[in-house]
Amino acid sequence: MDNLISLVNKIQRACTALGDHGEESALPTLWEALPAIAVVGGQSSGKSSVLESIVGKDFLPRGAGNSGYEVQFSSWGSVVNVLASNAGIVTRRPLVLQLHKIDETREYAEFMHLPRKRFTDFAVVRQEISDETDRETGRSKQISTVPIHLSIFSPNVVNLTLVDLPGLTKVAVEGQPESIVQDIENMVRSYIEKRVCIFALQPNCIILAISPANQDLATSDAIKISREVDPRGERTFGVLTKIDLMDQGTNAVDILEGRSYKLQFPWIGVVNRSQADINKSVDMIAARRREREYFQSSPEYRHLAQRMGSEHLGTMLSKHLEQVIKSRIPGLQSLINKTIIELEAELSRLGRPVATDAGGKLYMVMEICRAFDQIFKEHLDGSRSGGEK
Ligand code: GDP
Ligand code: MG
Ligand code: NA
Repeated sequence: MDNLISLVNKIQRACTALGDHGEESALPTLWEALPAIAVVGGQSSGKSSVLESIVGKDFLPRGAGNSGYEVQFSSWGSVVNVLASNAGIVTRRPLVLQLHKIDETREYAEFMHLPRKRFTDFAVVRQEISDETDRETGRSKQISTVPIHLSIFSPNVVNLTLVDLPGLTKVAVEGQPESIVQDIENMVRSYIEKRVCIFALQPNCIILAISPANQDLATSDAIKISREVDPRGERTFGVLTKIDLMDQGTNAVDILEGRSYKLQFPWIGVVNRSQADINKSVDMIAARRREREYFQSSPEYRHLAQRMGSEHLGTMLSKHLEQVIKSRIPGLQSLINKTIIELEAELSRLGRPVATDAGGKLYMVMEICRAFDQIFKEHLDGSRSGGEK
């Protein structure tokens, strides 16, 4: 099954690499037929931290005061103070992140806007995300709906496609247009919205709803928007961050056990690195170990420790993605067959042997589709004979 997901990732990449040309073929449909996981939540809720710990790498632009503003809540949950920070919002464009599990020990990253360039230094990856954001938006506090595509190849990840989105805000800060609150909400909604698809092929994206434990769940931007697009919580994973920052004498057990807000999937609590940890360069391995110890050693959470933490979150997501893909195999298979036919027509229109770049790419995608189709067939045969991998 691992194979199937990594092939899906390859197809997504190939389809995306087709760029403009893809619009003429069935490939955008194919690209959209595969599920992704979007990370949503308020600014500073811990979205980037959660993404980084799923990946097991520091690579997202972050830093002290990167949140645009800090909202302070009174104990009954109303906003009492909004502190603007002059650093602005860091995540100002959607980041489409594909994780590829590979056998090699070295890790590297590639951006779609910089083909054939391999990044092995993740500090440089972080810089490039931030530079590429500025290229599109200027060094302003504006946001853009144009996504950045990044692939990470590593032995330490599970195969996943994740989308990091700008944080939802409640107020515009100095230098931002008043419309920014609504603009960000619309952008986020466009990624996570329920889609009506004629062929019933297109899966709705999986929502990773990030809420900080040190704020009232009733004020969570993540819950508000995910409830709107997924009222039954069928594709929403509730992630509770900052459990370590809760007030003395309070705990998150009611939320984590699903009594405060029920979702189909169990809530997952995480403890990410604090700003002080980041300033001290506490590494990911140490952070994960500490997170594990936190849940295992605290009397309130010990009984839940098995299903808490970033590693567990990654595993859960991968399993869920597999199920979604599995349920879509018959539909995808016929779409692939249709695509092969269309690509063949396209290729013969271009005339073989194909020398042009577009032709080369089409050919490559067709080969991938064929391989994909083969895997489907094998998988279906396997399922029919009762063989479950
Ligand atoms: P984003 O704006 O939603 O992407 O949030 P970030 O991931 O950038 O986190 C915002 C700030 O909260 C950073 O200073 C993080 O170090 C801190 N933070 C995030 N998660 C946790 C957590 O679980 N515990 C603690 N103590 N700090 C956290
Ligand atoms: Mg962020
Ligand atoms: Na932030």
